[in-house]
Amino acid sequence: MSDPLLSRRANELKPSATLAVAQKARQMRAAGEDVLAFAAGEPDFITPEPIREAAKKALDDGLTHYAPTLGTPGARQAVADKLGSENGIAGLTPQHVAIGVGGKHCLFNAFQALLDPGDEVILPVPSWVSYAPQVQIAGGKVVEIQTSGESGFRMTPDQLRAAITPKSRVLVINSPSNPCGTMYSPDELRALAAVVAEMAASTAPRLVVITDEIYEKIIFGGREHLSMGSIDSIADRTITINGLSKAYAMTGWRVGYAACPGEFGLSFIKAMDRIQSQMTSGIPTFIMPAIEVALKECSGHVAKMVSAFEVRAQLIDRRLREVPGVEFPSPEGAFYVFADISAHFGKTAPDGTNISSAMTFAEALLNNQKMAVVPGEDFGGCGDRCIRISYACDEDQINAGIDRLASLVSSLS
Ligand SMILES: Cc1ncc(COP(=O)(O)O)c(C=O)c1O
Repeated sequence: MSDPLLSRRANELKPSATLAVAQKARQMRAAGEDVLAFAAGEPDFITPEPIREAAKKALDDGLTHYAPTLGTPGARQAVADKLGSENGIAGLTPQHVAIGVGGKHCLFNAFQALLDPGDEVILPVPSWVSYAPQVQIAGGKVVEIQTSGESGFRMTPDQLRAAITPKSRVLVINSPSNPCGTMYSPDELRALAAVVAEMAASTAPRLVVITDEIYEKIIFGGREHLSMGSIDSIADRTITINGLSKAYAMTGWRVGYAACPGEFGLSFIKAMDRIQSQMTSGIPTFIMPAIEVALKECSGHVAKMVSAFEVRAQLIDRRLREVPGVEFPSPEGAFYVFADISAHFGKTAPDGTNISSAMTFAEALLNNQKMAVVPGEDFGGCGDRCIRISYACDEDQINAGIDRLASLVSSLS
């Protein structure tokens, strides 16, 4: 509902439709109902012990004052080192790195730093729910590239070339993808990078790539993750966004970062500093040593969590294929399956819900089987025919959840 006392910006911002189902699932749980949740975008694991200990020690050592806005030199150096050694992004110093309140905040600030009103942001859809609203708040215009489950939700180089105009300012890449659970191969990313380089040299000289690599470590089947920032032809116009939330099970800590090499990288990070200094200031000081511990000492912990995710991915892939009228590409990374359930549109659930959309399918699943998933409308594109199932939960829950989904499907008339 729009309110004349609010800004146009606040009135125009769409509320998240997905929150409605999450809210109802919470209420049912609070009322003692046995709801199985497949909605959360976060690992079920607790943060590894060495990281927790580093923060506790920092608190006891009195690291309780303001931190530098973009992070301590040690934490920024640790990020620069990680991106250099693990991701092959050359030439990064601490001055090329900004640490903010999660990847989400870094993305928000990056759009603020890059966009003027009317600037175009190319967004392959379905995509994570916050990109489009963040672009909108910055005054930018989203240009969607449609993808489908048949192609693993991947855009082609030709689609990208066709979407680029002189007003193109940003291309957003998110691989592995939330909500799709698929990813680009290194060769596919190189082919997209070649289009960016070609178009930046002709049609779109101010085009920048934002590559959100927050799920880079959660990948399966021996797949290889390639950072766009390691591709020479576009490295100096590529901003890498990442954070500790997913790989290190640190969603509640709120640690994310942005990095970009070269001269543009320095001026971009200075802009991030100006924006963040007027907004949140730095993240909590006692978290800074924990960032260093996570990035330098916890690869073994990450590997254990990733292998648990891989077992779950195989399980849900196998079990979900048993359910009629549910189509999806096999999970390749992150911890989501994005499944097309539109074969069931036009049917009616036992409680009388008419299934005409992803939202009503998700409602029927919650009402009739007490299983919470995220309806796909907010992710854009063909998301309105899909539900997102997050399998960041144990194998018993996955089996029980797929049983419930199968029961719903078989009860539809
Ligand atoms: C694709 C993607 N990018 C960024 C984020 C932001 O994560 P955080 O702010 O916890 O770092 C998320 C969280 O769900 C995500 O799925």
